[in-house]
Amino acid sequence: MHSRSYPDITYFSDGFLIQSPAKVNLFLRVLGKRSDGYHELETLFQELEWCDELEFRDADEFSLEIEGADLRTDSGNLVVRAAQMLSGVSGRRMRGSILLRKRLPLQGGVGGGSSNGAIALLGLNRLWGLKWEVERLVPLAKDLGADCPFFLYGGLAHALGRGDDIKPLTDHADGTFVLVTPDFGVRTAEVFGKIGVGLTEVEKNAIFNPLWSRETGEAYPLFSPSNDLENIVFQIHPRLRHFRDTLLERGAEYALLSGSGSTVFGVFRSDETARHAAHELARIDGVKVTVCRAVARSRS
Ligand code: C5P
Repeated sequence: MHSRSYPDITYFSDGFLIQSPAKVNLFLRVLGKRSDGYHELETLFQELEWCDELEFRDADEFSLEIEGADLRTDSGNLVVRAAQMLSGVSGRRMRGSILLRKRLPLQGGVGGGSSNGAIALLGLNRLWGLKWEVERLVPLAKDLGADCPFFLYGGLAHALGRGDDIKPLTDHADGTFVLVTPDFGVRTAEVFGKIGVGLTEVEKNAIFNPLWSRETGEAYPLFSPSNDLENIVFQIHPRLRHFRDTLLERGAEYALLSGSGSTVFGVFRSDETARHAAHELARIDGVKVTVCRAVARSRS
């Protein structure tokens, strides 16, 4: 498969557009509770073809316009937060007009807001002529949110820590993805708040980390698809378990909750079977179904 560098950029006369992709977690293991209130995770992020768009244009003043969703445009928005942080750390004045075309669900477990924040860092780094290496943006992305650093790299990546210590990989998950998003979101903090206290006692070992390929130095994908948050979220929203079971009944190789939800996804070997399953699921009231593929990235 042809893999291209990250992110996808289109240039036009007075600016550029960067795709702001969705992710799924192919694997998510909660290893323990941290003293900062967050949880220690091991996860495998996979970028999808499903995207929001961010357009950047030069302008003396800073502005953010949003199409497709009723979202705040003050510092409660991760795009504005990213601009404020980058301006603060670099000493550059906050400037430029940004247009966000929102397509990804809100509180949907596919990282839409985190992706927008990270892409804003990449876009403003370019617009303001900073030319910083991605590694220099990582601490800012970590401050924006636990899922943000992944979106500085895209593709497939292994993560530890809060999910923000990223090791980018060159591979990708094969197959056709069918994503089922209900008309409600899930608050990540609520889900993590319901995790059993047992986790504070013993930290499980990360199983993925020490398994490195001798040829490429990459981690072997020795995992079975699973998500430790699934049972908690399925208890709160039993409909989501039904979506997962339907995806499996309709021929998915595996099906999982993504992150803390609310999106559930299934991965199919056959594109045709995937499209049949999508058609069937789209008949359910109050759900949106998306069919797409995963993206691989070159890591030069
Ligand atoms: O970093 P972010 O704002 O995306 O995280 C949202 C919430 O999810 C955090 O406030 C925390 O309650 C929970 N969380 C966690 N452990 C993680 C990631 C998120 O407990 N590794």
